[in-house]
Amino acid sequence: MIFVKPLGVLFVCLGNICRSPLAAEVFRHHVSQHGLDSRFHIDSCGTGGWHVGERAHSGSLAVAKKHGISLDSHRARQLSREDFRRFDLFVALDRSNYAEIIAQAGVAAPEVVLLRQFEPSADDLDVPDPYYLPRDSFEEVFRIIDRAAEGLLHSLQNRL
Ligand code: 4NP
Repeated sequence: MIFVKPLGVLFVCLGNICRSPLAAEVFRHHVSQHGLDSRFHIDSCGTGGWHVGERAHSGSLAVAKKHGISLDSHRARQLSREDFRRFDLFVALDRSNYAEIIAQAGVAAPEVVLLRQFEPSADDLDVPDPYYLPRDSFEEVFRIIDRAAEGLLHSLQNRL
């Protein structure tokens, strides 16, 4: 049997409690539905370290659960130098996350994309940060992430 190394995909936001944990598990859900679990290594992290070790935000936990996705095992962690060796693709949730990944990567020069590049007819390149928004914004953030995650998987299928 030929062993194909899984494609390492790391979703990156600021705090790793609202958007990137949701993006990673929604993406994993689509991957699973396509029977591609063994082809990916999926994780999330934040560029900031304020919430390291914490569970996902209650708004993300609730909206994920409503859509049949569990974030229960998530614990926040910060982007590290090791990540630049372990992951093939860095998926930034907004343009400031994108810039921060590039800045922290230095000479590692990783492949970095914006999640919303893959959302059909996106009206913005940033996934809004629900941490700073009213509670009901988590639903809209979920929908954006869901559409974009599906588009991302579609675009990666020829790389597996
Ligand atoms: P996230 O949201 O980047 O989507 O996890 C945030 C969570 C916490 C903070 C900022 C954004 N914070 O400043 O603590």
